[in-house]
Amino acid sequence: MILVLLGAPGAGKGTQAKNLIEKYGIHQISTGDILREAVKNQTETGIKAKGFMDSGDLVPDELVIEIIAEEVRRGCCVNGFILDGFPRTLAQGVELDKVLKKIHLQIDHVLDFEIKRETVVERIAGRRTCKSCGFGYHIRFSPPSKDGVCDKCDGELLQRADDTEETVNKRYDVYKKQSGELSGHYEKSSKYHKLDGESGVEEVFAEIVKILD
Ligand code: AP5
Repeated sequence: MILVLLGAPGAGKGTQAKNLIEKYGIHQISTGDILREAVKNQTETGIKAKGFMDSGDLVPDELVIEIIAEEVRRGCCVNGFILDGFPRTLAQGVELDKVLKKIHLQIDHVLDFEIKRETVVERIAGRRTCKSCGFGYHIRFSPPSKDGVCDKCDGELLQRADDTEETVNKRYDVYKKQSGELSGHYEKSSKYHKLDGESGVEEVFAEIVKILD
């Protein structure tokens, strides 16, 4: 199964990817996570990407396309995969089709989460992630039992560097600029599904399961 998750920052792509992994055991490829790891390790890709990410801009297409091609080449995804945060531009979408065609695969479903700017800002401002295990929380919607401490592993909960109000608004503007063209690439296909990203986590997941099953 190959799934593509589209949507604004904070639309719930990462949250639903985790639910999908748990239920279906498929691999997640998150370009955001891969890029943040590269920045942390100061790899060549990380050094090139950092400035774009800090300011809320998109990293150049060629860098992210190479990341995806490398993941697929490594044979990461025998049971299929979830693309979380890729593609983000029409050029990335077209390139993805080519990469998949080469290995005789195709996308099964494109899930597009619709969400308003106000919701995005509220969600992102409250997001916290465990430094050790990566588990995600929201200080209002899914808080940890103890402030700042992960329920799963007692790790420290951190806020992402690009989760400031100013950067979130910029990321939302960037998303809006690219999203019409990208959705248009998939919209006419029966694989394309619009979801109400404003609903609660469980409701959204139930909707996804209905589509996949
Ligand atoms: P990336 O890491 O992909 O960030 P993003 O797209 O901005 O998405 P987020 O991770 O912020 O949101 P999400 O939809 O996963 O929301 P989540 O589930 O966590 O990218 C970061 C940067 O990397 C980009 O700005 C860019 O520079 C670069 N980049 C990455 N990919 C790229 C690409 N393909 N091309 C170019 N550049 C690229 O939810 C958010 C919060 O809300 C959480 O706290 C969660 O608990 C809560 N929540 C989730 N769902 C619900 C719900 N239904 N109800 C209530 N709360 C909810």
